Amino acid sequence: MGKSASFDSSKKTKFAQNLHTLMLKYLGHSCFSIEINGKNLIIDPFITGNPLASHIDIQSLKADYILVSHGHGDHIADCVELAKITNAKVISNHEIITWLNSFGVEGIAMNQGGSLFLEFGTVKMVYAAHSSSFPDGSYAGHSNGFVIWNSDLCFYFAGDTALSMEMKLLPLTCPKLDFAILPIGDVFTMGVDDALIASQFCEVDTIIAAHFDTFPPIQLDHLVAEKKFKSNSKRLIIPKIGETINWK
Ligand code: NI
Ligand code: MN
Repeated sequence: MGKSASFDSSKKTKFAQNLHTLMLKYLGHSCFSIEINGKNLIIDPFITGNPLASHIDIQSLKADYILVSHGHGDHIADCVELAKITNAKVISNHEIITWLNSFGVEGIAMNQGGSLFLEFGTVKMVYAAHSSSFPDGSYAGHSNGFVIWNSDLCFYFAGDTALSMEMKLLPLTCPKLDFAILPIGDVFTMGVDDALIASQFCEVDTIIAAHFDTFPPIQLDHLVAEKKFKSNSKRLIIPKIGETINWK
């Protein structure tokens, strides 16, 4: 038997090699603003409809790209307005980009397994075990996650998802993860116990929590969650809305 296949590290993109920083700001629910290699990304914009995020002013946000994991309102509600404010391009699946085009928003369509090579690094769209439809009920394609990397770092944004065996593919098909943003609030996505197994499946030691506390059904016991990860030698970061995390 030969050595089993794994990620070819020569595929790491070689952009801006001296920049070892990533700045990540939590905007509530599953929404993050990320500065990476001088570019600003916003993932899953849902701010104005989130009462916990009323101190976040979307007029002040900067974005070169907006990434959208799926069509549910709690991930896409501010996308059209934010794209118009920032002039950002949206990265999502074909169905969502086509829908956004009808509102005059431009985007780049992709699908699961595909990678885009952009000026800040590589964006790979990966599997998520979740449903997806637009706020009007129409079909929004499949739900997705993203793995984003450059020559310095790599992270996984899982989107809304259940625990799935496909997460075991990430160590084989992507660089080693520095951190993962995982949904943890239960009911509509994984809860704490499954998110812990997910972190083991994708071989990541630092986890940033998402999709918790926004609505009563997804209220998270922060202490219990942190303890469970800690007792498995994992670090769980439960971000505060508006908090900035500097990476490295
Ligand atoms: Ni959803
Ligand atoms: Mn959701």
